[in-house]
Amino acid sequence: MKNVLAPSILSADFKVLGEQLKVTEAAGAEYIHFDVMDGIFVPSISFGMPVLSCIKGYTSQILDAHLMITEPIRYVEEFAKAGADIITVHLEACEDLQATIDKIHAAGVKAGISIKPKTPVEAFVPYLDQADMFLVMSVEPGFGGQAFIPESLDRIRELRKMLDEKGLKTDIEVDGGIYHANVAEVLDAGANIMVSGSGIFKGDIRKNTEEFMEILKSH
Ligand code: DX5
Ligand code: ZN
Repeated sequence: MKNVLAPSILSADFKVLGEQLKVTEAAGAEYIHFDVMDGIFVPSISFGMPVLSCIKGYTSQILDAHLMITEPIRYVEEFAKAGADIITVHLEACEDLQATIDKIHAAGVKAGISIKPKTPVEAFVPYLDQADMFLVMSVEPGFGGQAFIPESLDRIRELRKMLDEKGLKTDIEVDGGIYHANVAEVLDAGANIMVSGSGIFKGDIRKNTEEFMEILKSH
C-alpha cells in the first residue's frame, strides 16, 4: 500500500480554496479530504455537494469524501454525481451498513467505513473484505484542531493485524490531530493514508505539505 497525504479542507481558507488545493497538489498531496457534517451525527455543519462539484477536476487529486452524517445512504448517489472518488460513511450512522456499502459500489465509487474513537475496531469484522478503505478516527469527529488520542495507535495496529490475518492489503486512513511530529508513529502502527487539516493549512501550506511528504516517502 502506498503512503498518501490527504489534506482536510476543513481548515482551508475558503475564499482561496482552489489556489490552496493547487499548492497541496504541487507539493505532492494525492488526495483531498472532504469533511461533510450535518449538525446531527456531529454538532457542526460544514459543506456538501455544491462545493465538491465545484472543486472536482480543478486539480487531479482524488476526492475523499468523509460523510459525518446520519443515514448517509440517502446521499450516496448525489455525492457520487458531485464527483467523490471515495465515499466514507460512519458505521455508527448507518441502520444498514451493508446496503450502504453496496449502494456506494453500485455508484462506481470506492467505499470507506469509519469508526469513532469509542467504537471497538472489532465492529469492522463483518466488513473486512467489503470496504476499500477503513478510517480510524483519532479524535471525536466534528471539529478540526483537536489533539490526537494516543490509544488510536493500538487500534490501528489491531486493525492492520485483523486485515493481515485475512491476507487483505486494504488502506487504513487516520484522521484527527496528525502533524509532522506524530505522523511517523501513525505510519509505523500500520496506517497508510494520513489526513491532516491544521497540520497543512495553518501556516505555510507548501512547506507543511512538503515536510509531510518527506516523512511519508521515507517510510
Ligand atoms: C474531524 C475531521 C477531520 C479534521 C482533521 O471531524 O474529520 O478531517 O479536519 O483536522 P485536524 O488535522 O486539524 O485534526
Ligand atoms: Zn475527516
